[in-house]
Amino acid sequence: MTQDELKAAVAAAAIDEIRPHLHRDTILGIGTGSTANLFIDQLARLRDDFAGAVASSEASAERLKGHGIEVFELNSTGSVPFYIDGADEVNAHLHMIKGGGAALTREKIVAACAERFICIADASKRVTTLGEFPLPVEVIPMARSYVARELVKLGADPVYREGVITDNGNQIIDCYDFMIEDPVAMEARLNAIVGVVTNGLFAARGADVLLLGTEAGVERLI
Ligand code: 5RP
Repeated sequence: MTQDELKAAVAAAAIDEIRPHLHRDTILGIGTGSTANLFIDQLARLRDDFAGAVASSEASAERLKGHGIEVFELNSTGSVPFYIDGADEVNAHLHMIKGGGAALTREKIVAACAERFICIADASKRVTTLGEFPLPVEVIPMARSYVARELVKLGADPVYREGVITDNGNQIIDCYDFMIEDPVAMEARLNAIVGVVTNGLFAARGADVLLLGTEAGVERLI
């Protein structure tokens, strides 16, 4: 199977996972990226079975609206029963690196408001130790150089993601050569650097369920 076929399979598995819980007033939290896009496309046929969605990016909001799914502001919804999103890496504890699509801050906010985080990913995303994928850090633009120097002190090789402005008007630094032995501690350590808006470690609030697309089928890990 191709990577796209594995992503489509986990998107379908996520539909099966949430479908029995949908009501006419249900508002879902929806992530960002190619796997989330496949989920949104499959969700479209259920659009009359739930109220709508909160999106973690402008791109996902546009895709949802394109399918006739109403998009709500998180400030008006309170908590959501499910947040469904992909990942760049995920470990056995369901800690993740996210933010390859630069949507990490809004992803983390919607995830924080979710009763259950369902991570959907193809098998290439499963790792033993997080960090092979460069860890994204969203920064306030004027703090970029300062934050980069602090990241060097922590052992990372920070690279400015040129030409990318986040939905929040900020910039992204990607941390290369930065293997993360203790994701919960490192997430907190990075958040403590002045000028950091969010880092792409989703460990303090990891996923509750991982639907992993493999050649043998979709594995469900909790
Ligand atoms: C975007 C993300 C995505 O979830 C992550 O990059 C995975 O993307 P894809 O499903 O395209 O592999 O965190 O900021």
